[in-house]
Amino acid sequence: MKLVVTGGAGFIGSCFVRMALGQRWAEHVINLDKLTYAGNLENVESVSSHPGYRFVQADICDAGAVEDLLKRERPDVIVHFAAESHVDRSIHSPAPVIQTNFNGTFTLLEAARRHQVGRFVHVSTDEVYGSIEAPHDADENYPLHASSPYSASKAGSDLLALSYYTTYKLNVSVTRASNNYGPYQFPEKLIPLMISNALEDKPLPVYGDGQQVRDWLYVEDHCRAVFAVLEKGRPGEVYNVGGNCSLPNLEVIHRILKATGKPESLIKPVADRPGHDRRYALTNEKLTRETGWQPLMDFDRGLAATIDWYRTSQDWVRRIKTGEYRQFYELNYANRV
Ligand code: NAD
Ligand code: TYD
Repeated sequence: MKLVVTGGAGFIGSCFVRMALGQRWAEHVINLDKLTYAGNLENVESVSSHPGYRFVQADICDAGAVEDLLKRERPDVIVHFAAESHVDRSIHSPAPVIQTNFNGTFTLLEAARRHQVGRFVHVSTDEVYGSIEAPHDADENYPLHASSPYSASKAGSDLLALSYYTTYKLNVSVTRASNNYGPYQFPEKLIPLMISNALEDKPLPVYGDGQQVRDWLYVEDHCRAVFAVLEKGRPGEVYNVGGNCSLPNLEVIHRILKATGKPESLIKPVADRPGHDRRYALTNEKLTRETGWQPLMDFDRGLAATIDWYRTSQDWVRRIKTGEYRQFYELNYANRV
């Protein structure tokens, strides 16, 4: 099978590419990535000489480039990870988020329709459901209630993707995963930022009271869920993917400090995120029932593996935490004092 994977130089997409190339059914994997600030070819270094792997640098919003690629390669499958994925960046600068997440998805869907690509998995997020009152969990029919430009752009692109099934019978499924963590995550999201700051003895900025709840999913569990949806998911359907691990942010931070042996005095409360969703919570019941998938990684074990990876990959972190990263970091956290 020949796959085009968009965003395969990012955190989750690169994990998917590395894992897919270990599967017999994935003979060819073409990684289509623009290499934005979040894209890093070091993330796919370990498969770069695999005979079935190819990298194409292109923007998913570039209709000509996408059209050429599909015409030339005739892939069986598109797995669409490419996105502007950070909520805080979407608050500071929404334009690229709407452009890539909505218009880029449209460009891909159009090309997939014209070239009759046999399967399209659109990778989305539980953030499209917005904040959910305890004790409820969102299933796939839960109303969409996006709070940030990021989640709104993902909700819009989910609906667009599903419309290509309803209208054109393009074989689309949508996955909505909870917060991922694991190796190679860009150190702007909660877990990699807190781990890398703790390892550098830098302050850990906690938004508001730190009691916001997220469900944590190990990145390899997420990628296995996408495999399951590719193989067994029904067209026109949405599948939630959660880690069965709901924790308040401060609890996650305490566990990181304990595991790294760093003091609680590193915790630094800062002003809250505008429109901050209080609680994400979802049920996996549909995906498990239809495909047999379940999350396998226990959170403390996954966190320990992630901390080990950041500890031994400090050069990777150091190379990222320069230039543009520093500028955004200073802007984001200066606004919160
Ligand atoms: P990431 O920011 O680490 O990587 C995104 C990748 O997309 C980068 O390699 C970047 O270069 C590429 N990209 C961005 N704009 C592009 C464009 N216009 N054309 C081509 N490539 C482009 O993101 P991630 O955390 O790996 O997330 C991947 C997907 O999973 C996203 O769609 C995101 O919405 C979704 N998701 C993420 C999480 C999470 O916790 N990180 C949870 C649920 C869903
Ligand atoms: P994040 O990793 O940005 O994911 P999302 O907003 O998509 O869930 O943030 C996870 C949670 O951690 C969220 O409640 C915001 C909070 N947070 C902090 O408290 N401090 C930080 O520096 C960051 C990046 C996030």
